[in-house]
Amino acid sequence: MPLVPLRPLMEAAEQYNYAQGAFNVNAVAQAKAVIEMHETFRSPAILQGADLANAFMGGRVDFANGTLEDKKKGARNIAAAVKKYGEHSPIPVVLHLDHGKDFDSCVAAIEGGYTSVMIDGSSLPLEQNIELTREVVKYAHARGVSVEGELGVLGGQEDHVFAATSTYTNPLDAVEFIQKTGVDALAISYGTQHGANKGKNAKLRREIPIAIKECINRLGIFCALVSHGSSTVPQYIVKEINDLGGDIQNAYGIDVNELMAAIPCGIRKINVDTDIRLAVTRNMKELFAQKPELQKSPSIGGVYTLLEEKKSAFDPRVFFPPIMDTVLTGNVPDDDVALLMSRVEAGVKEAVGSLIVGFGSYGRAPLVEQKSLEDMIAFYKK
Ligand code: G3H
Ligand code: 13P
Ligand code: ZN
Repeated sequence: MPLVPLRPLMEAAEQYNYAQGAFNVNAVAQAKAVIEMHETFRSPAILQGADLANAFMGGRVDFANGTLEDKKKGARNIAAAVKKYGEHSPIPVVLHLDHGKDFDSCVAAIEGGYTSVMIDGSSLPLEQNIELTREVVKYAHARGVSVEGELGVLGGQEDHVFAATSTYTNPLDAVEFIQKTGVDALAISYGTQHGANKGKNAKLRREIPIAIKECINRLGIFCALVSHGSSTVPQYIVKEINDLGGDIQNAYGIDVNELMAAIPCGIRKINVDTDIRLAVTRNMKELFAQKPELQKSPSIGGVYTLLEEKKSAFDPRVFFPPIMDTVLTGNVPDDDVALLMSRVEAGVKEAVGSLIVGFGSYGRAPLVEQKSLEDMIAFYKK
């Protein structure tokens, strides 16, 4: 079936009380691996391309400087990959824009083929965030595309306690935001944090999703709550990277039990990127350690050089520039590239597989109501 919007997946998760992992991809092979792993578990799938992932997939190795044109190109490349592996899949597959920076980035993603977008106005004052999000909702819903907003600034370190200065989401503001914008999903700040340094033993403030959910239930409004910055940062992978010569310090994630406890509180989408980055980095380092002859390979030796140069990095985009054609198109020119990409895919699958089980989305694919973008256009009109 064609790629589907986010909303039906969130409705099924709400009805049957589980959560969907939402997994970031930055290469064709990663999209393939995420979809295959969900198929293995008969789980619905949410793949996300972040704003900067679109820039990278638009061919910008310096993705932080990507232009709107790069993002448009990248959105088309990611959508082509996700469609290639997802359109004939037995499971519903969503392609979601992660942390859309502005209205134009959301439009670029939708025009490229994304079926769901996040507009991240969390750095704006409430009223401006509402205004921007409403604008995106109007544009996206007219095309059947789902929208996620964000309210509150992600923290999670011990010093980010609930206080007058807290950046955790205020449930009162959240209810107002959901009512005024009509978003399908809302990212909240309740103790998670992006990246690999979330602090030891991070605890989630579950009262926040509980309060929001209770209020919107009473108002009869649907909105799925989203947990960003939710990587578990497996300690065995961090150790393996460091044993292979890496330098990853103070890396701690959110305990999977904390995440599982947040699911009945209304968390329906759980975003994970860092765990994938770590597993892919470990696998690439391991390959070059197991087969030293590949360190001088004409096609992938450059990846090894970058892994050696940037010991504290674990974003595969830092190591991928020598194999950009494969990253962008999925074309595999020789056996060395094929071997490297098989290790990349295995890393993605390791990170994603355990969380599909942890979040309880395995076996749920048949529960998702089949709704196309056209169905959703009619639904939103009502
Ligand atoms: O939440 C952010 C994601 O990890 C994406 O990261 O903006 O570097 O692509 P990125
Ligand atoms: P992590 O850095 O914890 O993987 O969070 C990813 C995320 O929130 C993407 O939006
Ligand atoms: Zn995020």
